[in-house]
Amino acid sequence: MTESKVSKQDLHAILAPHDQQDVLRFWDDLDSAGRDQLAAQIAEIDFDELDQLIAGQDAKRDFAAMAARAMSPPSVKADGSGAAWSAADAIQRGEAALAAGQVGAVLVAGGQGTRLGFDQPKGMFPIGPVSNRTLFQFFADRLIAIGQKYDVEVPWYVMTSDATDAETRQYFEDNDFLGLKPEQVRIFKQGTMPAVDAASGKLLMASKDSLALSPDGHGGTVRALQRNGCLDDADRRGVRYLAYIQVDNPLANLCDPALIGHHILASSEMTTQVVRKRYPMEKVGNVALVDGRVEIIEYSDLPESAANATTDDGQLQLWAGNIGVHVINVDFLNRMSQSSGALPFHRASKKVAHVDQAGNSVDPDVPNATKFERFIFDLLPAAENAFVVESLPSEAFAPVKNAEGATSDTASLAKTAVSDLHRGWIESAGGRVDPDVLVEINPRYALSPGELAKKIPANFEIRSDHYLTFE
Ligand code: UTP
Repeated sequence: MTESKVSKQDLHAILAPHDQQDVLRFWDDLDSAGRDQLAAQIAEIDFDELDQLIAGQDAKRDFAAMAARAMSPPSVKADGSGAAWSAADAIQRGEAALAAGQVGAVLVAGGQGTRLGFDQPKGMFPIGPVSNRTLFQFFADRLIAIGQKYDVEVPWYVMTSDATDAETRQYFEDNDFLGLKPEQVRIFKQGTMPAVDAASGKLLMASKDSLALSPDGHGGTVRALQRNGCLDDADRRGVRYLAYIQVDNPLANLCDPALIGHHILASSEMTTQVVRKRYPMEKVGNVALVDGRVEIIEYSDLPESAANATTDDGQLQLWAGNIGVHVINVDFLNRMSQSSGALPFHRASKKVAHVDQAGNSVDPDVPNATKFERFIFDLLPAAENAFVVESLPSEAFAPVKNAEGATSDTASLAKTAVSDLHRGWIESAGGRVDPDVLVEINPRYALSPGELAKKIPANFEIRSDHYLTFE
């Protein structure tokens, strides 16, 4: 057996002050690869921080009190009201930034997608209602179309995790980077956080030579962008604004000129796109203004009284629901990546498979563990002039979260939403679509209803499922 680089004694010295030396219980049985793996995982952990999280000593926030003081955030509404500039001004400003090469794209695709139950990375899920294009392809086609329209190469930073990295890289390589230039795409991996036993706070082991680790949440994007040189790459390219989306929303308008324009005209460091909540206790993050700062209060932390509060005109005070679409300044991300406590951790109670003291596998059927995750939207309170842009769900939000059979957020609902939106574009351009057929428009054919209207012939009629594409 070759010698492992780190000795058991060294590791014991790191672990014992935190009472976590138990993770060395199988050390003597491990080969050098197993020892190296475990030692590398231990080296990545900030044990002082973990102690605080386990003891619950990290700064906890009184969301109920915050919610009681919360007001509607500074925003522009879907009808264009609320801002000192017009929607047309915003589009023009956003287009100028795109054409000047000041915009980059970030896609977060590191989640484990447990609810969907798809055994590959979620980005590889076929979502095109007619084309069966994957989620990754949806966004790649948009970036190609944007690149062609504004004559630029938009850099694309794609975040993966241990759970999705290898397959995602293989998929991009096998598919010629989905039509993008390889140097335009930078795939980078987010960090991990260990899961601990909910009762004892002890680190759980996934196997004898590995801790039970999971991705550190989409808030891990900040550190991962910085660590992997993406922020430097953006700086080198002259990119000032990053358009951020999550992989599971095929209607996400990546690099939307209007959203980027509103962000710039508001002199905002971080702007978030929202949809109007349909009812007070809807299960979304509530974007609110608290003590002069934009914050997101999760539905689970929102008391009913605050959820029901209305403004003078009878509208919900907390009307803005988070959809995970943001524009963030590169400078701001650079600043935040330097500050270790910039983003708090959130706890989640989960079922985590592990090996017990004796090395037997345990697959719990009730939550046994605490996981820790950071959320990207916790950047909002630190951002200067954080701003909110309302969009219509039919144009911007169709999340793919749940397996078929669920009542919301399934792939078939998302496909219908894509087809309904594109049907509307065709009809507004004077075309006709038979009821009950599916339609889909590739952004390389038309990025907007206006572009479509210039392309389709008079008396355009669709009688069976139809895909308008560029070929
Ligand atoms: P969700 O919070 O919906 O999680 O992620 P998920 O992993 O996709 O699904 P479940 O909860 O296991 O069913 C929202 C977005 O954030 C990304 C996901 O890939 C998705 O695009 N994400 C989430 C990450 O990139 N990393 C994470 O650690 C967590």
